[in-house]
Amino acid sequence: MKIIPYGHQSIDRHDIKQVIAVLKSDWITQGPKIKEFEDDLCRYTGARFCLAVSSGTAALHVACLAAGVQRGDEVITTPITFAASANCALYCGGKPVFADVQKDTINIDPFAISKKINTKTKVLIPVHFAGYPCDLKEINRIAKKNNLIVIEDAAHALGATYQNKKIGSCTYSDMTVLSFHPVKTITTGEGGAVLTNSKSLYEKLVMFRNHGITKSNFKRAPEGEWYHEMRCLGYNYRITDFQAALGISQLRKVDSFIKARQSIADIYKKAFSGNPYFDLLSEPRGAQSSHHLFAILLKDHYKRERKQIFANLRKNGLGVQVHYIPVYFHPYYQQLGFKRGICPVAEDFYQREISIPIYQSMSKAAMQSVIKKVLKVFTGYR
Ligand SMILES: Cc1ncc(COP(=O)(O)O)c(C=O)c1O
Repeated sequence: MKIIPYGHQSIDRHDIKQVIAVLKSDWITQGPKIKEFEDDLCRYTGARFCLAVSSGTAALHVACLAAGVQRGDEVITTPITFAASANCALYCGGKPVFADVQKDTINIDPFAISKKINTKTKVLIPVHFAGYPCDLKEINRIAKKNNLIVIEDAAHALGATYQNKKIGSCTYSDMTVLSFHPVKTITTGEGGAVLTNSKSLYEKLVMFRNHGITKSNFKRAPEGEWYHEMRCLGYNYRITDFQAALGISQLRKVDSFIKARQSIADIYKKAFSGNPYFDLLSEPRGAQSSHHLFAILLKDHYKRERKQIFANLRKNGLGVQVHYIPVYFHPYYQQLGFKRGICPVAEDFYQREISIPIYQSMSKAAMQSVIKKVLKVFTGYR
């Protein structure tokens, strides 16, 4: 039986042709395609500056460094996310602080953020869970009031819109981070980007991507044409030109990808409306999701059976997944002293969630098969 995965990339002949052309060229890394990809991402999102890097995790790390996160600083994020959204604070010597999520959207709750702010707080990292935009306006208002930097983790949300602007425009944030992992809206294999409207943040980001080395604005007189300076401790977070070529080609199709995901989500919503087994996430007002994930939330009666229901869905050929184990449940975070019980809404959600397949190239037959199998598995648990 062929498994229908919860997410899958869509690579066509045009994508492959673009990658091959770069592989045959003189520049497979540090060449012109990277700037072209960055310019395209700026045009698409509306942000002024873009830095493409080797992963979404690298993007979060350089964004935290550019925000000035240091030992002792606190970074508030959600527990319902991939570990990278919190790990980036640890990389800088900072401390992740988890604020609970809203019950209907499962995005970070601005009220819960307010309660966690103290003199050590430096950065807020809201995550657009499953592609549903957070309440950015309110989060930005809280940040401004408390002099904090906002980094949107939009790993799930390229192509989503908030108040008629594309996520990534940074209208209500200082920086936005993207991921191009294969299950995301567009892919470069591995890859990520940071968007910003701030020239000074952009200049810092550029340094952190490449070992902290610069070839301009020298502090000392250049000794010759070879001269360059390392000004801070940076990393090698460069993306390659053939990945950027794939990104450029994929980005041309992003709106059609979102349209396809939207129509799958609409079909699922119709098919599952009023069912007695599970609830669905609510679309936030004034926003449109990129539908990165399609989450079902088991009702109380079925919550206890989640392990068995999940196993049965897998047995029926559905590559379901759970997004996410609350970050502070992981042994590493437990060893750091985080206790269970700190975010009750998130913890309850974790016990109910199952992500069912959604990706742009899904056939009608696959979609119908998902609907049929999901309902069939649940009827066994009446
Ligand atoms: C919400 C979130 N943030 C960050 C990342 C990290 O991105 P990457 O895998 O490109 O490093 C992911 C990846 O799954 C993610 O889901």
